[in-house]
Amino acid sequence: MNNYIINNKANYDLAYAESTENPVKFWDDIASKNFVWEKKWSSVVNWNFDKAKIKWFENSKLNITFNCIDRHVKENPDKIAILFEPNNVNEKEKSYTYSELLTEVCKMANVLKSLGIKKGDRVCIYLPMIPELAFSVLACARIGAIHSVVFAGFSSEALATRINDCDSTLTITSDGSFRGPKTLNLKCIVDDALLKCNDKQKVLVVNRTQEEINIDKNRDFLLDDIISSVEDYCNPVLMDAEDPLFILYTSGSTGKPKGMVHSTAGYMVYTSYTFKNIFQYKENDVYWCTADIGWITGHSYILYGPLCNGATTLMFEGVPSYPDYSRFWKIVDKYKVSQFYTAPTAIRALAKQGVNFVKDNDLSSLRILGTVGEPINEEAWNWYNENIGKSKCPIVDTWWQTETGGILISSIPGVIPDKATFATKPFLGIQPLLLDDNGDEIKENNKVGKLCIKFPWPSIARTIWGNHERYINTYFSAFKGKYFTGDGAFRDENGNYRITGRVDDVIIVSGHNLGTAPIEDAINEHENIAESAIVGFPHDIKGNALYGFITLKGMSLGNKKIKSEINELISKKIGPIAKLDKVQLTSGLPKTRSGKIMRRILRKIASKEFNSLGDISTLLNPEVVDEIINNSL
Ligand code: WTA
Repeated sequence: MNNYIINNKANYDLAYAESTENPVKFWDDIASKNFVWEKKWSSVVNWNFDKAKIKWFENSKLNITFNCIDRHVKENPDKIAILFEPNNVNEKEKSYTYSELLTEVCKMANVLKSLGIKKGDRVCIYLPMIPELAFSVLACARIGAIHSVVFAGFSSEALATRINDCDSTLTITSDGSFRGPKTLNLKCIVDDALLKCNDKQKVLVVNRTQEEINIDKNRDFLLDDIISSVEDYCNPVLMDAEDPLFILYTSGSTGKPKGMVHSTAGYMVYTSYTFKNIFQYKENDVYWCTADIGWITGHSYILYGPLCNGATTLMFEGVPSYPDYSRFWKIVDKYKVSQFYTAPTAIRALAKQGVNFVKDNDLSSLRILGTVGEPINEEAWNWYNENIGKSKCPIVDTWWQTETGGILISSIPGVIPDKATFATKPFLGIQPLLLDDNGDEIKENNKVGKLCIKFPWPSIARTIWGNHERYINTYFSAFKGKYFTGDGAFRDENGNYRITGRVDDVIIVSGHNLGTAPIEDAINEHENIAESAIVGFPHDIKGNALYGFITLKGMSLGNKKIKSEINELISKKIGPIAKLDKVQLTSGLPKTRSGKIMRRILRKIASKEFNSLGDISTLLNPEVVDEIINNSL
């Protein structure tokens, strides 16, 4: 059976059974029939979760860009691969056919080579959502360099941390970026970051905003100066299945960000296969995912997944509110978008503006809607369904993580029905289970447990760059022999999964993962601050927002002043996305007798659940709880 396309329930049931009972045969079949391999694998999967050793399609040889571009150039050279919608409405859109994409990627690859980049080198990409971002990512993959894309909203310090962690030697950036009505000078941020890096650094600058920039002649290169003189073809470098394709940083609950490492072959097979099925992509569809390529969603479902399937994928440089809140819907009509994939936080922000911004748009091209990044509340789901999908488009609520590389739990249009607020069923090959705190499996319905996965899938991350121990400890130690997701979930009577949210110290704000520890570290650098604890609280649009409980070193400072100083520090150390919404000064933080801050209590207070604080008698300083409640915001 060629089970690449699942298009009815019977088909899914059969394929799911095979994918879990005989995963080797299942994935062997998918991989052999749907991709181009230079050499076939010697084994489909080899794994040991205790050591976090996972290998798929071992000893095979391939290049992912050959699968994403060259093979489509042979079959359909003039099909549009990438559509680009600029931030500014008066600027003309651009499009690249598969054949043009090949040339652009090859030229960029040759530019990288001319700067000395070779297989295995790390290249940091710090760019706005412009076509050169896609070309840069794919150019790295073409020559086997490992890309590390850093979202261009991160601060210079956050960028420096990421450059240093993976020891990248080239940063690709632009003079500036357009974001809504604003222009940001990105090159300036890179200059600042590189002050904290070694002297092996080079910078490649894409011209986007015609911004004034400083040029360090020994270090900085203008793309325009080099690209005109390079060849327009570049041979794809043969990669081993397990050669790293990229590093992407995600927040951890402690310390510095984790550089999740993804492999070449497994990542390709899984992202491509999930894209095809979950979005039911058909030949003339125009697919649009609104994420930024700085996040995993953009990697897997703007670039690699769609391109591997020969799809037309749309990249949007701007924001949903510019020039006004109808921008998304105007774009849907302009390009006749068939699949629209976005985040719950965007839906809530748009819903808040009312239907006036929606109603003058046709939207009849839409066939499938999607969400990702955080649990979607029922109200937002209904608004999306009624106003955007006109109650006729299935909504795929796709649950997954930077670490998983691709979607693990989701409905499938026409195959697995959607259900508001439920991610629904595991994708083929995915074996989820819910565990209680003792590690016992929860078999009952409607009981929340910790979501784990018991068998590897091809696109699971292989390690944390430079720190395999941390990889084992974070994901494979909580429950022996299982991958622990860090999320809570329950199952309804029909086996549909609903994700309830993080069960660790990661808070998802507007769909962005933020660890509390790095934010607290940033705040604690303030000279007047003794201690801080950050927790999340429910927020209408962002899903969660950040609440900081702060104790000062003796002196008194105005609340407003301290809040703005804290947020300035956070913007500098991490980026504006991690700013606090609420700051409460307190004389102390609730602590256990061993001195650990009891964030559980602070979470309840921040969420105004004053009656469910639980037992506080074991605290070292129970008296502080009343004070915190009385002054809570
Ligand atoms: C959350 C994003 C509920 C979850 C692809 C996960 C979701 C974290 C959903 C990963 C969803 C993602 N429903 N929660 N459909 N999708 N999450 O690494 O807590 O940025 O662990 O990957 O987002 O975020 P990340």
